[in-house]
Amino acid sequence: MKNSVYMTWAKYHAGARYNLANSGILGCDLRDLTMTVDDIAVNGPNHEGYAPLKELIAEKYGVAAEQVVTSQGTSMANFLAMATLIERGDEVLIEQPAYDPILSAAVYLGAEVKRFSRSFENGYRIDLDELQRLVTPRTRLIIITSPHNPSGVAVDQQTLKQIGELAREAGARVLVDEVYRDILYEDAVACAVTLGEQFVTTSSLTKSYGLSGLRCGWILCAPELAEKMRRLNDLFGAVGSMPSDKMSVAAFRQLETLEARTRAIMEPNTELVHGFLRDHEDLLECVVPRRSMTVFPRLKYQSDSEPLHDRLRQFETSIVPGKFFEAPRHFRLGFAVGTQEVEIGLRNLSTALRVQG
Ligand SMILES: Cc1ncc(COP(=O)(O)O)c(C=O)c1O
Repeated sequence: MKNSVYMTWAKYHAGARYNLANSGILGCDLRDLTMTVDDIAVNGPNHEGYAPLKELIAEKYGVAAEQVVTSQGTSMANFLAMATLIERGDEVLIEQPAYDPILSAAVYLGAEVKRFSRSFENGYRIDLDELQRLVTPRTRLIIITSPHNPSGVAVDQQTLKQIGELAREAGARVLVDEVYRDILYEDAVACAVTLGEQFVTTSSLTKSYGLSGLRCGWILCAPELAEKMRRLNDLFGAVGSMPSDKMSVAAFRQLETLEARTRAIMEPNTELVHGFLRDHEDLLECVVPRRSMTVFPRLKYQSDSEPLHDRLRQFETSIVPGKFFEAPRHFRLGFAVGTQEVEIGLRNLSTALRVQG
């Protein structure tokens, strides 16, 4: 398999006037950033990543700069981490439901993929007994997202440590995609990489800060592994994008302002969505994290959310059908766009749900 069915759909079909298919905070424009011409450069010393950027990432997430590998978004970070760690035929355990590009990349790399559940019934928590039954001496990698895409549920630190223990005993690593972590603000637990050598963390400035276009992503891992990843990255080019690296440095210096922007957008939207879910308990059931940018409701009386999605299109509104997360009764509802867009989108969703019954 050399594609991600979900990503192709997301690129061409997720857009709508009232876009509840989105999963990251409303994108920034230049007015959201304070920058001068000195914050941009065309060329510069970034053949192994740009040192000032690596230092800022390291400082924020509590690691050494030698543990940072910069990459084109979390997407490339995940790919590079997996490509470094997986040999053809290796056993890789991936959560279910999963963010499809992770699953597709593992298959593309020739992994023998096994799945462990993050089930609705279990509040999208990880069942350690199930995981333990699946781990074998051939397991090379366990992959999770925390907070989880699509449910928004974060894995607690105790569970992470226990997963780390299972992996260590098997000689495996744990890849934790933390692209939604910073939306938890002060509630966020330490980056998984700080829990031990077997952990690898990936993230970017995309989801929590609205800076997807900068493609500022990173991998945090043990120094020797980071070096292997940099060498593999040699296959993809000689240098990174210097304009992006310089602008990302400027962005990192104003993360507090960007976080305040995210909070200001998310607070009313979260209230709207939580209220909506309470008002539709007759039709929907949902695990509702205190903070998230997406939720993953389940239809009580239908087995497939695709007709709901099709109906919503008549109202210029989009959601992500659950089939893209191997859970057709569910749909992913994103609410990190403008408050008015969320408000109208939810009204349309209510109408479409009530018509369907
Ligand atoms: C779990 C997860 N990882 C990675 C990405 C991609 O992030 P980036 O824009 O940093 O490449 C997404 C985007 O939806 C995601 O949900």
